[in-house]
Amino acid sequence: MSDDVTVIVLAAGGGTRMKSKTMKVLHPIAGRSMIGHVLHAARQLEPTRIVAVVGHQREQVGAHIEDIVPDAVMAVQDTQEGTAHAVRTAWEAIPAEARVGTVVVAYGDTPLLEGETLARFVRFHRESPVAMSILTGVVADPTGYGRILRDEQDAVAAIVEEKDATPEQAAIDEINSGILAFDADFLDDVLPRIGNDNAKGEYYLTDAVALAREAGRTVAAFAIDDVMQTEGANDRVQLAALGAEMNRRILEHWMREGVTIVDPATTWVDADVRLAADVTLLPGVQLQGATVVDEDAVVGPDCTLKDVEVGAGARVVRTHAELAVIGAGATVGPFAYLRPRTVLGADGKIGAFVETKNSEIGPGAKVPHLSYVGDATIGEGANIGAGTIFANYDGLEKHRTTIGAHAKTASNNTFVAPVTVGDGAATGAGSVIRRDVPPGALAVSSGPQRHYEAWALRKRAGTKQAEAAEKALGEPGERPDGGTPDPDVGDAPVGG
Ligand code: UD1
Ligand code: CA
Repeated sequence: MSDDVTVIVLAAGGGTRMKSKTMKVLHPIAGRSMIGHVLHAARQLEPTRIVAVVGHQREQVGAHIEDIVPDAVMAVQDTQEGTAHAVRTAWEAIPAEARVGTVVVAYGDTPLLEGETLARFVRFHRESPVAMSILTGVVADPTGYGRILRDEQDAVAAIVEEKDATPEQAAIDEINSGILAFDADFLDDVLPRIGNDNAKGEYYLTDAVALAREAGRTVAAFAIDDVMQTEGANDRVQLAALGAEMNRRILEHWMREGVTIVDPATTWVDADVRLAADVTLLPGVQLQGATVVDEDAVVGPDCTLKDVEVGAGARVVRTHAELAVIGAGATVGPFAYLRPRTVLGADGKIGAFVETKNSEIGPGAKVPHLSYVGDATIGEGANIGAGTIFANYDGLEKHRTTIGAHAKTASNNTFVAPVTVGDGAATGAGSVIRRDVPPGALAVSSGPQRHYEAWALRKRAGTKQAEAAEKALGEPGERPDGGTPDPDVGDAPVGG
């Protein structure tokens, strides 16, 4: 027997109940499309080929499938005339010499399906001398499913679809999950013989069961307890239910791998996230995309991290981050916003109300408070003062700022890029740095402080401000002389 395996994934149906311009199988659950989950499971079989049957929105769906499985065979089903018609379309899309071995049929909308389940099912099918096998389940409410009919010997005799079932048959709770395995020779023989004389006027793949029996072949049933693995989402209510179930399974997996999840009810982790042992996730955490968290890191409460790498022992609090790298032992937040290509070195700090983008912040460097760091390179051990703006945009182009190793910049600085502050340099509070600062220099750009004595008494007469000043200054004779003439600023406040 050939050990060739073909997986056919059906995804041509419209999915109208989603009421969406996006095709049903493209709706995401746990960071992957529904069909993405199915293709991942299919790939774990290491099949010879994957054939996808596309119809509605075939360009969009086909392109998405090729992103995940570049060598997938695309079979276009122009009109959706039933599951047998769909499989026939797939069959015709592969060359005759490829129509050998085992053929597995799955649907594109069953995101909980696991590769391990498919693998067990295929092994089961190959070890039994049968024409085809059905992945079955027993469910509390069989509405909508094809029911498994058995003969006196308890062998599988047929599948009857809901719409064609007698009330007696409809009461059967053993159902066809939709996942089937065929001997290629049998499938090749049976496909042209399936008609559409039924309640829906469709070509039912499930008719293959009765046809196998008529030909004297046997059909095996492989029952799984975890029927949810084969459940599809037809509308957004089911999409949310399957999403919640998938999340529950993902969290359970990670807890069993040694991750502490304080509040599973408010923690959402995507399928492709990787977590090390002794990671702690506090309430309100969403880990999305290809996020990776290394051991002993603590994330949360209230963080959304997408495609972020969190190093060992790092601490991330109330942070929104995307495509960022947080070094080992670093601290981030609370209320930090890390935009793409932020790289924070080991033991570095991005503190409260800090936004970063396309910036490397070196090992041990700190941006503790209220700052915007865009297009910057901050050297090892540097400290950026509170309220600093890296002015990276001149209205036309973005430019870089470089801050040297162990530089100490003061509060409320503006770095007008492109500009470089040398290693070990320093700046004064409120400086606007437009020219490069040499290593070790102190740069001060704000002018010397001047006092317009008793200014409030003259310019703010009759206000509480003037009253307070007058009280503090004492009698007119005791007041200091106004050294500097009043500036020509009208009634505008001086110096903000
Ligand atoms: C099918 C099975 C039923 C099973 C149920 C499990 C048949 C006749 N019935 O019923 O026994 O219990 O699935 O969910 O096989 N599709 C195409 N092209 C088509 C028709 C369907 O690609 O022409 C795709 C759909 O997009 C969908 C899948 O095949 O992903 C199943 O089709 P659907 O019409 O939903 O079948 P059910 O009536 O649910
Ligand atoms: Ca269905």
